[in-house]
Amino acid sequence: MKPSSSLQKRLGLGLTLGTTLLWLAATVGAWLVVQHELNEAFDSALEETAQRILPLAVLEISNRENPSEAQHVATLKMHKEYLTYLVRDAKGEILMQSHDANPKIFNQQPAEGFSTTKKYRLYGASALRETVFIEIAEPLEHRREAAREALLALLLPLLALIPISLLGTWLFVRISLRSVLAYRRAVETRGVGDLSPISGARLPAEIAPLAEAVNHLLERLRKALESERSFTANSAHELRTPLAATLAQIQRLHQEAPEGPLRVRAAKIENALRELARLSEKLMQLAKAEGGGLLSETPQDLIPLLAHVVDEWNNRSGHRIKLQLPNQTCVYSTIDPDAFGILLRNLIENALKYGAADQPIDVSLTEQAQLRVVNSGPAVPQSVLQHLTERFVRGHSEISGSGLGLAITKTIVQGVNARMKLFSPATGRKEGFEVCVWLPLA
Ligand SMILES: Nc1ncnc2c1ncn2[C@@H]1O[C@H](COP(=O)(O)OP(=O)(O)OP(=O)(O)O)[C@@H](O)[C@H]1O
Ligand SMILES: [Mg+2]
Repeated sequence: MKPSSSLQKRLGLGLTLGTTLLWLAATVGAWLVVQHELNEAFDSALEETAQRILPLAVLEISNRENPSEAQHVATLKMHKEYLTYLVRDAKGEILMQSHDANPKIFNQQPAEGFSTTKKYRLYGASALRETVFIEIAEPLEHRREAAREALLALLLPLLALIPISLLGTWLFVRISLRSVLAYRRAVETRGVGDLSPISGARLPAEIAPLAEAVNHLLERLRKALESERSFTANSAHELRTPLAATLAQIQRLHQEAPEGPLRVRAAKIENALRELARLSEKLMQLAKAEGGGLLSETPQDLIPLLAHVVDEWNNRSGHRIKLQLPNQTCVYSTIDPDAFGILLRNLIENALKYGAADQPIDVSLTEQAQLRVVNSGPAVPQSVLQHLTERFVRGHSEISGSGLGLAITKTIVQGVNARMKLFSPATGRKEGFEVCVWLPLA
């Protein structure tokens, strides 16, 4: 599956790119308008100046003794001229020029109106029935500089806009998605057996229906699981009494039957019935483990519970179990005492059943509520070990069993948010089997 990309990243990049492109388009548009208006303003100033100078020049020329003689207009103060002009007659003879004027930059023949050369913008006007022409030149560099500065002023804010937009979108999306992230966390931190509805309050309208659909699904799942569990529990429970009655009857038949094939057959039926009773007991345990309610409201001290169960088994098994308790007097855990009892019984039962008969079984509890049950015996291959906690999976053993003990243990461990690990060979040994459970500390 393709890794899903972050909405925050996509929106951040997309919006920033979009805003940048729009800004660039707007900048180009604004710049073109500004350039047009600037040209208009400069042109009108150029025209105005020519129209002002022309009548003065005509007056001056007509007052001269020799009007066709070219004349430089004297300056009051030396300065670099921004606008230069030439006054010429119709043949192009210069009659007057401003002191900085360079005749080479002007048109060869005087012309009226605006024209543009490589470096100058020119404007020409005439007087006295086109016998006197004035041409005025303005360097284009000035206009270009103004246009450049306008463009820069429009573009500069973009430099700040990009990071602000990225950061702003990122923050805004993050804040807007807070409820979605909280929802995700609520789903993630859920215990395995917790199928109660997940609160989708304050979720955005686009996602709220999804949360509702998930809750519907959870509800249907919960109902299906509940009916499955109650069926298992009820049938196991209902089987108990008839099984016990039949077992009693068959025991009597076994005792009363004469030596011979009938007695052997009665013994076989008795064994089969015992197996059946054990299976129904395990099924009830599994139903309880899956039914939830594995955590108790008040923390329980595990030490007396552990000591009690070990005592019980020691009395039955000829004191093979060695119990090792932590130095401190109490180890409080949130696990339900009944669930702890079921877990422990299954582990000890296995150790007694599958461990080497002449070796002791070590049961220990640490201050950190770490429970270990270790027995001797041949090591179990890793490939088999991995699957032992699945339902109805058994190792290669002659001893009868239903393959539910470790599945029940695992279900309880998951239901209390704890951890369990199987080791074979046992830690620090060359053989044996070890089950390690990290129970929830209160
Ligand atoms: N302490 C142990 N030492 C060696 N093998 C074990 C030990 N505990 C479990 N096993 C192996 O794991 C298998 C599964 O154990 P589990 O308790 O789930 O089922 P079971 O003991 O066969 O049947 P049930 O417990 O339902 O009566 C067992 O068949 C056995 O092969
Ligand atoms: Mg077992």
